[in-house]
Amino acid sequence: MRVGVSERFQATLCAIPFCKQRTPVSQHARVLTPEEYVFSEEPYYEPVGDEVAIFEAAYKNRLPVLLKGPTGCGKTRFMEHMAWRLQRPLLTVSCHDDLTASDLVGRFLIRGGETLWVDGPLARAVRNGSICYLDEVVEARKDTTVVIHPLGDDRRVLPMEKIGELLVAPPEFCLAMSYNPGYQSVLKDLKQSTRQRFVALEFDYPDAALEQKILQKESGIDAQTARQLVKFAQMTRNLKGQGLDEGASTRLLVHAAKLMTAGIPPVAACRSSIAQALTDDPDMLSAVNELSTSLF
Ligand SMILES: Nc1ncnc2c1ncn2[C@@H]1O[C@H](COP(=O)(O)OP(=O)(O)OP(=O)(O)O)[C@@H](O)[C@H]1O
Ligand SMILES: [Mg+2]
Repeated sequence: MRVGVSERFQATLCAIPFCKQRTPVSQHARVLTPEEYVFSEEPYYEPVGDEVAIFEAAYKNRLPVLLKGPTGCGKTRFMEHMAWRLQRPLLTVSCHDDLTASDLVGRFLIRGGETLWVDGPLARAVRNGSICYLDEVVEARKDTTVVIHPLGDDRRVLPMEKIGELLVAPPEFCLAMSYNPGYQSVLKDLKQSTRQRFVALEFDYPDAALEQKILQKESGIDAQTARQLVKFAQMTRNLKGQGLDEGASTRLLVHAAKLMTAGIPPVAACRSSIAQALTDDPDMLSAVNELSTSLF
């Protein structure tokens, strides 16, 4: 279990009255408030370069951080690892094109005949001194993205216009965001005035030896099979722009390795977890499947 929750917190949750009216919670499910989302165990992360040192230096200097890189290359895992290192709660907001400034900052809600102010995740993170991670930030509307501007420069404040407050971020607060360059249209690119507030870290798939190590650690697969999977991934990455939008990510390799360790034959594992995830095009599918048959 990667997220630690204190006994005290579990007791608090049960005491919240409206929790009782919700769908009953399975004994294996856990409900966390963002402030309690602190990692008690180290999330496994293999550094690829100097990203850990740069993030730590940025954090110390209260600079926001932008993670760029293709899907499944370790950005989220890196954030989890950094949150653990810095022992701060990690609050992730998945951005989409309906996300409004109120979704981030907060809104008035009517509950039991009373009007209550409810902080949005960004305001909660600022108050609590958490790390706020805006995932896929280019998906958010531009008028939403600008609310982070005063937080992202040296003012480090969040104006809460609806309640007439200015929330000043404590030193522990950190703003981070990620995006996958290249997937979106020019219209969806980040504004210069947004991106130039951030220290940017570029992520990519790890080199072969490191990726093999990650696969072994994540799935328990043997070295030889892990090596072959990495080779397979590199072949699919060479097909990028030649029928495939993207090659197999480290995430897909981990999926394949997990299926294999569960007893699925390698070719079937690669077909289900990699080829089918990469494309629907019948010709590309058979080309990718042929690559895996040639290796396993
Ligand atoms: N450097 C790394 N160390 C450890 N595990 C890694 C690393 N890079 C990738 N992984 C593995 O790859 C998986 C996918 O990584 P992650 O979810 O962090 O990708 P992402 O870059 O956030 O992708 P997306 O942009 O789609 O959200 C992880 O769950 C982990 O198993
Ligand atoms: Mg991610």
